This record gives sequence, C-alpha cells and structure tokens, in this order.
Amino acid sequence: MAPGLVETGKPEVVTSELSLQPPQAAESWLDALKPVPTDEIFALLGEYLKDPHPDKVNLSVGVYRTADSKPWVLSSVAKAEDKLVQEKSEARHEYLPIAGDVKFLEQARDLSLGFNKQTPEEDKKRTVSVQTISGSGANHVGAVFLAKYLKPKNIWMSNPTWGNHHAIWDAASSDIKQRFYPYYDNATRSLDFDGMVKTLDAEAQAGDAILLQACAHNPTGLDPTHEQWKIIADLCERKRIFPFFDMAYQGFASGSIAEDSWAIRYFFKEKPNLDMFIAQSFSKNFGLYGQRVGALHFVLSKPDPTANAAVFTHLCNIIRGEYSMAPSGGAAIVKTILADPELTSDWHADLDVMSGRIKLARQLLYDELKKLKTPGTWEHIVNQNGMFSYVGLTPAQVSFVKEKHHVYMLQSARASISGLNPSNAAHVAKAIDDSVREVK
Ligand code: LMR
Repeated sequence: MAPGLVETGKPEVVTSELSLQPPQAAESWLDALKPVPTDEIFALLGEYLKDPHPDKVNLSVGVYRTADSKPWVLSSVAKAEDKLVQEKSEARHEYLPIAGDVKFLEQARDLSLGFNKQTPEEDKKRTVSVQTISGSGANHVGAVFLAKYLKPKNIWMSNPTWGNHHAIWDAASSDIKQRFYPYYDNATRSLDFDGMVKTLDAEAQAGDAILLQACAHNPTGLDPTHEQWKIIADLCERKRIFPFFDMAYQGFASGSIAEDSWAIRYFFKEKPNLDMFIAQSFSKNFGLYGQRVGALHFVLSKPDPTANAAVFTHLCNIIRGEYSMAPSGGAAIVKTILADPELTSDWHADLDVMSGRIKLARQLLYDELKKLKTPGTWEHIVNQNGMFSYVGLTPAQVSFVKEKHHVYMLQSARASISGLNPSNAAHVAKAIDDSVREVK
C-alpha cells in the first residue's frame, strides 16, 4: 500500500514534525525541460496568418493554391466525395484493420511501383504495405522499424532535407547518427551530385540507411536525372545501404505518375537484391492535406513468405502501439478515385492543372525578375522542379523580404511556389530585387 493511505483508500492523517513545516517550493523534473524551437514551417505560417498587411504573400508551407490564392478541392476528389455521400455505407465510420484498408493499400502499392494486371504475382509477394498517417507517419513507422531491427549506424540525409526528417529520426532513435550527403551546390544553385556520390562512397557503411526523395526534392526542387539515379542505385547495392524512399509528390511534380516514381520503379526492377522502404503521401497529389492519407511499403529483395509475414506483423505491432490504425475518411476518397477509371482520368487532369500552374508560377517570377534586371542569375527558378524553389537569398535577405515586403519564405530561402500568382508575382519579384540590392 502507498504510504499515507489507509486501507479504505482515504488519506491517512499524518502528524509527523515534517508535516508541520511550511511547504517547500518543490523541485520538479519539468524544471530541466527547456522549450525546443517550434517547427519552422508551421511557425512561419502562423506569423503569416497574423500579419494584417493587405499585400502579404505566403510562400511558406507546401500546399497548392489556385491562381486566386485559394485552396483547391480537386474536381476528382469533389466527385468522389459526392459518390461516398450518396453511398452512405453503414460501415463508413467503422475501424479499419490495424494495417489499414486492404484495397487502398493495393492501389497505393500499384501506383508507386507501377504494378498492373500483367505484373507477376512473384513481384507482388515482394511487398508488404501498411496505411499510415500520411507521409510523416510513413517516415516515422519506417524509421522506428529500422531502428528496432536493422539498427543502422547512420541514416544518411541530403544536405539540406525536409526539416521534419530530423525530428522523425530524432524521435525514432537516439542511437542512429544523422549524417548528411552533399546535395545542393550554393555557387551553381544546382545538384552537387559528385559531392553526394563521393561522400557516400567514402563514408557510408554496410547496413546504413539512406533517405532518398523520389521526386520534387524538398526543399531544393532539384532531382537527380535518370542516369544519376542509376549511379545512386549501384552505390546502394555496392555499399549495401538500405534505401528509404520518401515520395510526397507523385504526379504533382511532372504531372506524370510514372515519371515521378521512375527512381523507385528502377530500384525495384533493376536492383532486386535490395530491400527498401517507400513512404507515400497523398496530401499533395490528391489535395487531402488534413486527411492524413499515406502508406508505407516494405520491398523485400525476394519473395519470402516468412520474412513477409514477420515484417507485416512487426509494422502492425508498431502501428497498434502508437495510433492503433490510420483514419478511414481520406483513404476512402483515394480508393474511390483509383477504383473508377473515369475518376482516375479526372484525377490525372487535376494533376496536370496543379503541375502546370506551378510551372507557370515559376515562369511568372522569373520573368518579373528579368524585367527588373535583378542582379544575379535566376534560371534556377524555372529549372527546379515541384512545389518548392530554393530561391538563393541569404537569411538576412529572407528576413528583409518578410519585414519590409510581407513575403514569407523559410530562412533557407525555400519558397512554396504555388503561393505565387499573376497578382502578386511582381510584388514578390520587387521584394527579392530590393533585398538583393539593399542587403549584402
Ligand atoms: C512542407 O514541407 O511545407 C510540407 O511538406 C508541409 C509539412 O508537413 O512540412
């Protein structure tokens, strides 16, 4: 029994000398807990929302916006929602299995790996899929699994990478060292592919894991070419490094599902002796940001039913202990679209709309900077790919564009391109132009 409690469970009256002393200021274990910096992306979004300035521009978080700066419910998504409402399935609010919705997971796997009716069963048996809380959740479950069972010494990440990759791997394990391969060459504003390969060749060890972004690299907008991906695949194979693909923008980057998952499909077909993870998000390509729709696929180097079952049960075990199972609503929308050829073709048209507008927005900004004869080179803005541009401003210049012109981008000068439109591109270009001329 706990001291101070009598058998009835009521507090015992204790009349020791100690209890007559005035209460001491208690020391708490929380005294040692210092606040950590809040996530930069969402903190900046908060600042933007509070800014009353009429000409403010939001280039912070990676979300799609229309040419009128509005959120967009994809037309395919709106139709699927109508269909689901009409169906009024009585099971629509039931629990999903721990692993998630089986049909949705098959569709997600087929989308990422390019499987179709002709795909041999043996290929399908090389995969294990679970539903996750979008891409962050997929990264997290995969990281926890690797930390427990592969136990890599190092997780290699591009320098720079998406800020949340650090938090996810910090949370997964304090034993795995986060190491960085060169990725962005500031001088040329291009991919430092030689630096990447040289570093990994020299320093990565067998059993390490490497995070690779399948397309539309966040934050730089720079992706390897097909030839470069082949070299990366050879390197993973030669050095026995575990590839962990993060794919948050399939179809959103180029408009083509196949092109944006080219690297993943290449690894699957051409490097069958590699196990790998694929973390898949449906936030951007279906515009379902708040629905948290995602999947994690483990690819086995060979069809091995025993290993397959073991991986599956361990992934389910992690999921059950953390959030029991993923939510069903957003996944039902994706499933409805992918199960219906007409809705799927609407979705492809939606992808063209989004990727097309982003490319146009890049051009808009580039043209305005050209008009202003802004010192420096700006071709990289049109050459980069996907949701973001690494504009190439110093942190002081980024602060200047925010303070003086109310244009919000990350300190690294990562700009979420879809925040640009015909009405604000000139304003953003002027802000950049001023910063380059006035802040050295
Ligand atoms: C971003 O990088 O802005 C998006 O992927 C949103 C997020 O979760 O960070």
